[in-house]
Amino acid sequence: MKRLVWLAAGLQLILGCSPSPSSDQSTAQTTATAEPRSRVALDQGWRFYKYPRAEQADRLIYDVRPPLLDDEDGKAADAEPTAAEALHSNQPVLKAWVLPTANAFIANPAQQHQRPAGSPGSDFPFVQSNFDDSQWQQVRLPHDWAIAGPFLAGDDAAVGGGMGRLPSPGVAWYRNKFSLNEQDKQQRIYLEIDGAMSYAMVWLNGHLVGGWPYGYASFELDLTPYVRFDQPNQLAIRLDNPAASSRWYPGGGLYRDVWLSKRPQLQFSQWGTLVQSSQVSTSSARLTLQSNIENHQTQSAELTLKSRLYAWQDGQPLGPALAQWPDVSSHIPAAGKVQLHTELQLTNPKLWGPLPQQHPHLYLAVTELWQQGKLVDRQQQRFGIRDVKLVSGQGVLVNGEKIYLQGVNQHHDLGALGAAFNRRAAERQLQLLRELGVNAIRLAHNPAAPELLDLTDEMGFLVVNEIFDVWQRKKTPHDFHLIFDDWSEADLRAFIRRDRQHPSVIMWSLGNEVGEQYTGEAGAAVAQRLHDIAKQEDPTRPTAASFNYAKPDMPITAVMDSISLNYQGEGIRNAPAYQHLQGIRTEPLYPAFAKAFPDKLIFSSENAAAVSSRGEYQFPLTPHDSAPVADGAGGDPASLQVSSYELYTAPFGSSADKVLRSLAAHPEVAGGFVWSGWDYLGEPTPYYAARSSYFGVIDLAGFKKDRFYLYQAAWRPELPMVHLLPHWNWPGREGEITPVHAFTSGDEAELFVNGQSQGRLKKQPGQYRLRWDKVRYQHGEVTVIAYKNGAKWAEQRIETTGAPSQLQLEADRTTLSADGRDLSFITIKLLDAQGRVVPTAKQAFEVHISGPAELAATDNGDPADLTSFASAKRHSFNGLGLAIVRSSQQKGEIKVRVTAEGLVAAEIGLSSR
Ligand code: GAL
Repeated sequence: MKRLVWLAAGLQLILGCSPSPSSDQSTAQTTATAEPRSRVALDQGWRFYKYPRAEQADRLIYDVRPPLLDDEDGKAADAEPTAAEALHSNQPVLKAWVLPTANAFIANPAQQHQRPAGSPGSDFPFVQSNFDDSQWQQVRLPHDWAIAGPFLAGDDAAVGGGMGRLPSPGVAWYRNKFSLNEQDKQQRIYLEIDGAMSYAMVWLNGHLVGGWPYGYASFELDLTPYVRFDQPNQLAIRLDNPAASSRWYPGGGLYRDVWLSKRPQLQFSQWGTLVQSSQVSTSSARLTLQSNIENHQTQSAELTLKSRLYAWQDGQPLGPALAQWPDVSSHIPAAGKVQLHTELQLTNPKLWGPLPQQHPHLYLAVTELWQQGKLVDRQQQRFGIRDVKLVSGQGVLVNGEKIYLQGVNQHHDLGALGAAFNRRAAERQLQLLRELGVNAIRLAHNPAAPELLDLTDEMGFLVVNEIFDVWQRKKTPHDFHLIFDDWSEADLRAFIRRDRQHPSVIMWSLGNEVGEQYTGEAGAAVAQRLHDIAKQEDPTRPTAASFNYAKPDMPITAVMDSISLNYQGEGIRNAPAYQHLQGIRTEPLYPAFAKAFPDKLIFSSENAAAVSSRGEYQFPLTPHDSAPVADGAGGDPASLQVSSYELYTAPFGSSADKVLRSLAAHPEVAGGFVWSGWDYLGEPTPYYAARSSYFGVIDLAGFKKDRFYLYQAAWRPELPMVHLLPHWNWPGREGEITPVHAFTSGDEAELFVNGQSQGRLKKQPGQYRLRWDKVRYQHGEVTVIAYKNGAKWAEQRIETTGAPSQLQLEADRTTLSADGRDLSFITIKLLDAQGRVVPTAKQAFEVHISGPAELAATDNGDPADLTSFASAKRHSFNGLGLAIVRSSQQKGEIKVRVTAEGLVAAEIGLSSR
């Protein structure tokens, strides 16, 4: 079949954009034959300035904020959120000029905002065209101003472990110029921002245009009234990231893409087109296309909507069109809006479904507006045809087939790359999760980069898409609660309109462990308001809000369409090893919720909160199969490391073993989401002197912890595997008890130490590991042979190694795109003379790059390592290090060489095309 040439050509014009037209962002346009709209990434040419201290910043503030009195770094994640303080101040603020940006997302016209007269800040030097910014830093987007550090160490650091010890708070400005030509005079000009952290306010040519406070939101501004054609247009964007605004690392800056969009006066609205499928089967599906159209002209118009359907394959649309929606014509008043609908019955649709059981087939709708025989606007919309039902007692049914949720929670950051979105880094996160056996992701606890949902669509993951961590009650002094009343409606509508076209999204989660769980009817009313808004924007998907405290008899639990439980399902602080702890204590609540809500789907939105540092082991080992981490009991306060026997948890958590057992005992529960898939920046429970979390099944650098294999054994039972822990380098422990555990997809295993059997063990029901707890260490080798149904299934052997003597490099990809964004992740291994990874090696290395590429970051997965991610020198952590190499826009051969004192260096070649 013929590729759609004009579409592909249009895509190439989108600088740095992934080749997938996401949601209704009209990504394919602009060919030589004048497409009616265009969209270009404004990723180059930016100048950046951050005030050294927030107190020195200009006073162009969105609003006053309460003083920081009760900020407590390291507060338990399940501490009760508290009420917001009332605030009074006479200081002039810019909020009134920013709020009107929300108007398109406020349903009641009476509640929409009037822009006051004037343009605050227009006399401020940074917004002037003639301001000399040549001394400002040159940056390229996406840009995270904080990720290079330095890390702030110590108890009194301005940013503690909770927010990742990185300088994300502060006030900064970005400036850039763009030019328009005569033809653009016919167009409307927009600035689209996929995410700006945070409190963005935008000036163009000295005029305050508007802004959006929530740092994870995508929004656009109509620049048309302020643009000029005779000289370059000057953009100035002010961001203000409050201290104590988050329970994790938020990043800072223009950390996602920013686009300059040109659209016709008669146009499809932002996120205005939606294709929905109903009556879906493999033999047919009804496809309803809905388009919102707006007329910015002073005359009314007669228009016709024409839409065609294409198959989408290998990242591209395929021609010719498979079908056409019946045209619809309408009158649109001057300065008015219309919504048009048209329907198509498609036979033999290829359905979208999650891997590995199903396949994520995609389609493309190309939608055009015609006026008097002339094409006036064109956009495209990628979508999937699928039927998702959440059925109480049965679970998630996709196209009629039950998909048990084998999910993980993911925060937004990309480890050493920080918040700055990078498609390849996100894809790598998902690829490793797929290898683990994950089929579902909960996006905790904020809107993700739009491209992430393109990836979950393409890669066939189910997504619980979550918007808020707080409502009116606060978790940290400067979090979203400060603007909840003014912005929650607009944020929620914008979030759903942006993401509702993604087939991977199966649910809207409107809040995580919010304080309104504690406020009875008042809290339930807030929940009801959000639920109702979500249903108006998308009646096809269920809502959720995660409860770690609310019980079945509390009013809030009845509001949402599904029951989304954090930790309560398997019980909180309810196992023997947790009895001495203070805090929420809950018996396993699946049965109580199932009884109270027989018609609602129940799932575990967060479970486990288990902690570990890759490759660290501490003795003695708890005899329990789930235990809270404490100093000397799984945790070492001196090294800030947590034992990787994978039995230790946050005080409210449960080991993977306990969670899997509880879920297996409750088949009526739809499955769940582990906290967390990958480690993330911030929230380093239990050691807040560190920088990044211990919760991940995969560490921050992307190296597998032992827990990876525990879940893989459970989630991929057909994959023959067995995994042993700990490593076998214990000089000084000769003769001492050194427990050996194995995770296997088999049902039995025998362990040998230096050839001597330590016994053959069979997994009992509810057991997810085999443990030989009496093994005494002796130098040499340990072998495990796993069996399934009596036959040999898998084997692993580990050996005591010698000292490190050489380096080895392993690149995930050796061919890069010369687009200035593509990445190669290079694992640096410290080997002994016989080529074995030395599992305890912590030794300095240095990365050297030549050719058309740069070192984007280094890491090692050590949560306590405060070496800047930008540094070419770092220590390996337990045998491994990571170098992330970024291509430039030049093609050529790249050499990566890694050296370490006393070791044989290693080199690897990459090529950029
Ligand atoms: C939960 C919370 C998550 C994370 C996790 C681990 O209570 O929802 O955001 O904090 O605990 O601490």
